[in-house]
Amino acid sequence: MPYWAFAWPGGQVLARFLLDQPQWVRGRRVLDFGSGCALEGLAAALQGASVLCADLDPQAAGLARRNAQANGVTVETTTEDLLGRDVDAEVILAGDACYEPALAQRVLPWLTAQAARGVRVLVGDPLRVPGALDGARRLSTYDASFDGDPRGLTVWPTHVLTL
Ligand SMILES: C[S@@+](CC[C@H](N)C(=O)[O-])C[C@H]1O[C@@H](n2cnc3c(N)ncnc32)[C@H](O)[C@@H]1O
Repeated sequence: MPYWAFAWPGGQVLARFLLDQPQWVRGRRVLDFGSGCALEGLAAALQGASVLCADLDPQAAGLARRNAQANGVTVETTTEDLLGRDVDAEVILAGDACYEPALAQRVLPWLTAQAARGVRVLVGDPLRVPGALDGARRLSTYDASFDGDPRGLTVWPTHVLTL
């Protein structure tokens, strides 16, 4: 399945976290980075955030818009690569954006730089890359369905962390 065709564990736990704790995003400008199907971005939009879903894949952008419509919310989308740029967002959601070492090495310094600018960064991650998120603060842990297993027969403990 393509990466945008299902909710990854990181996206699942961010969505659950935001539905449980709307104060993190309510009324804020939110960037869903590496949005895929955009489950976490939709959760933020449902809680009253204005959401930009960023994914390099145009099919992911189209799916994010369709999923938003199906859930009665609106999201903006972009296929621009925002890595390395300062973003106009108050909150960044990064669901499973560090699923392999090379990507984690590019994404985490940028997320850390955005956090240093005062952007609230929420990462959803099952810690696939050992050590990559050692410096992050854990906010919550949930059992999430393994990649592409929507029935939840295999679950992974997956964390919501902030940088
Ligand atoms: C593992 S999927 C996670 C999707 C979603 N966040 C979730 O948790 O279900 C990672 C996504 O990041 C996207 N991606 C990778 N590098 C990116 C970049 N530099 N900018 C935007 N999206 C990127 C991929 O196209 C893919 O859809």
